[in-house]
Formats: sequence, structure tokens, C-alpha cells
Amino acid sequence: MRAFTAAAVTTAALTSLALAGGAQAAAPSGHPASGLPLRTLAAAHHLRVGTAVDMDALAGDATYTADTARQFSTVTPENVMKWDTLEPQQGTFDYSQADKLVKFAERHGQKVRGHVLVWHNQLPSWVTSGDWTADQLRAVLHKHITDTVTHFKGSIWQWDVVNEAFNEDGTLRDSIWLDKLGPGYIADAFRWAHEADPHAKLFYNDYNIEWTGPKSNAVYDLVKRLRAQGVPIDGVGFQGHLDIQYNPPADMAANMSRFDKLGLDTAVTEADVRMTLPADDTKLAQQADAYRLMLDSCLATRHCISFTVWGFTDKYSWVPGVFTGEGAANLLDESFQPKPAFRAVQDALAARP
Ligand code: G3I
Repeated sequence: MRAFTAAAVTTAALTSLALAGGAQAAAPSGHPASGLPLRTLAAAHHLRVGTAVDMDALAGDATYTADTARQFSTVTPENVMKWDTLEPQQGTFDYSQADKLVKFAERHGQKVRGHVLVWHNQLPSWVTSGDWTADQLRAVLHKHITDTVTHFKGSIWQWDVVNEAFNEDGTLRDSIWLDKLGPGYIADAFRWAHEADPHAKLFYNDYNIEWTGPKSNAVYDLVKRLRAQGVPIDGVGFQGHLDIQYNPPADMAANMSRFDKLGLDTAVTEADVRMTLPADDTKLAQQADAYRLMLDSCLATRHCISFTVWGFTDKYSWVPGVFTGEGAANLLDESFQPKPAFRAVQDALAARP
């Protein structure tokens, strides 16, 4: 059961909540995604609802910008806080796009999920092709974490400190970090991030850990061990990249709850549900069920503090570029029309806390 147990939340109460919190009022009834904004509905559960943000779309698409502000109370930069953007050449920094998003979030009463400090992907070539000794690479990583967290200090609610460090079988992923620094790089990353911003919530984040199984068991063992060693880790992010052709994670609530019992926050951090194209009513209904399962699992977990979708419109999804023949993974279609999944999320959030 979550901390907040009010009686039924009326429309009037929700509207006043939205206004008091600086959130957006309900969309006019003619708007495709009409009804109370997701952020307003989520506030009644003491939950923030978020989206990954594509900065090109935010700059150039007024509908995208308006919906990002109206519907969401937390934002995650889809790409612009990654190392290859922030420091493309050693010693040359570009925080401009990420700073824009932080300002946007401030203007719209949104919190920012920082994504991502340590990952094997989207690294600048000067990092991956450098002929580093272990000590040199450790210093490079320490500096990156310190520079980045210090630059955004005070503006980031949750940091994805380490991302996708495990294989499906629960062994640690072979990466430049593991190869050169050994498994201790994970604890070091959390310690360094905490030194740079003691108030940010520090997360381990991964995909395919919604289910119980070798990978989520390995993450569980890791974070339990880190907590026991006094390493400053605050939460675990369940990415939630699902595909309707596979079984949904029926035990997700139970799985999240075991992390909760370790005293950790949890979050759904990158939810989307792809399908083989073309979409049809049956597939869209399955997709809606999968979103609802993830959101309900979060709502059933006492310290699940945010539910973030990895983009909210099919217009800008990463999916078709990576999974040939698949797509339609988001809550709104390419014309920003709500799909059954949007209504399912709205309904779940509108239900009595
Ligand atoms: O910035 C370049 C641009 O200069 C170039 O012209 C263009 C040509 O393809 O590519 C641009 O970079 C692309 C980048 O997104 C920014 O748009 C990369 O090719 C592309 O690979 C990259 O994809 C991102 C992917 O991470 C990379 O691994 C996706 O947008 C992003 O949604 C995805 O996000 C990840 C999370 O960070 C971690 N979890 C999984 C999730 C989905 O893969």
C-alpha cells in the first residue's frame, strides 16, 4: 500500500491540486488527449509521471512541446546527457541541450531524471579508443561523473548512475568498465556521484529486470550487497521496454516489492511497448494491458516514485530504427491521437489511490 490513502479523488479536488502544484489544467475537451493531465492524476498517488524528451522535437514541434509540459511532471533527456553529447572531445564540453531541458523542466514544475553517467553505449570515441591504463581510465570516469553531476547539481532528482551492467544470464556485461576496472567500478560510480551531489537520488537502471529471473536476481544481489556495504544507492529503475510478442511480466509487482523491502526507491524509467507493424485493435489492446501492468505494479509498490515513458508519441520513437518492422510503441500515435494505452494509463491513475 502506498503512503497516501485519501478517499475517492474528485475531479474538483484534482483540478485544485493541479493548480496548487503549478501543473497544467485539464486540456480543453476538444483536445485529442482530453481529460485531466496524467501529471495531475498521478499527483493524487504521490507519483510523478514522466517522459523521455527528444530535444529536436522539443525545439521544433509545438504539439510535442505542449504535451510534454501538460502531461508530465518529470522529464528525462533521451540522449543529451549522455557522455558523447556532453564531452565529444576530451576537455570540450557541451551542456547546452541538457541545460535547455533543465530550464524547460523548471518552467513547467517538472523534476529531471538524469540519464546517464556510466554506460557501455554512446561513449565518445576518445574514451573507447584511448589506450588507457586502469588508473588512467578510473581517473577519466571519476572526472566524468564529478564534472557532470557537479554541473547539474541541485537540478537533478534521480540520476541513472550505472545503466545496463548485466547480461541476461546475470553475469556482468563485458564492457570497457568491467574489462579495465573490474566489478568495483559500480560502487565507485555511486560514491563519486554522491560526493558531487549528496541530495540527488542515485539509481541503478536496467531492462529485462521487470520479471524475476537470473538478470533481476543478479541486480537484486548487487544492490543488496551495495546497501550492506554502505554504498550510496537509493533506487532501482525498471526500464520497461516490452514487446507484445513476448509474455508480459506478470510478476512485476512482486519483483519490485522485493527491492522496496531492501529500503530502496523504485521507478519505471523507460516504458514503451512495441509491436510488429501494422498495428491493429488486438495488438493495441495487448499494448494497453502491458502499460497498465507496469503502471499498476508501480502503484502497488510503496516507494515506486515515478513512472516514465520512453517518449509519448510514435512520431519520435527510437523503436523502428532498431527493430525492423516494429513500432507503434508509445501512448499517442504519430498524430498525437491517444491510443488505448493512453486511456489505460489515464484510467489507472484516475482510480482511487
Ligand atoms: O546525434 C547523431 C547525429 O549527429 C547523426 O546525424 C544521427 C544519424 O543517425 O545519429 C545521431 O545519433 C543517434 C542518437 O540516438 C541521437 O538521435 C544515434 O545514431 C542513435 O543510435 C541514438 O539512439 C538512441 C539509443 O539510446 C542509443 O543507444 C535512442 O535515441 C535512445 O532512445 C536510446 O535510449 C536507450 C536508453 O538510453 C537506455 N535504455 C535503452 C534505450 C533504448 O535503446
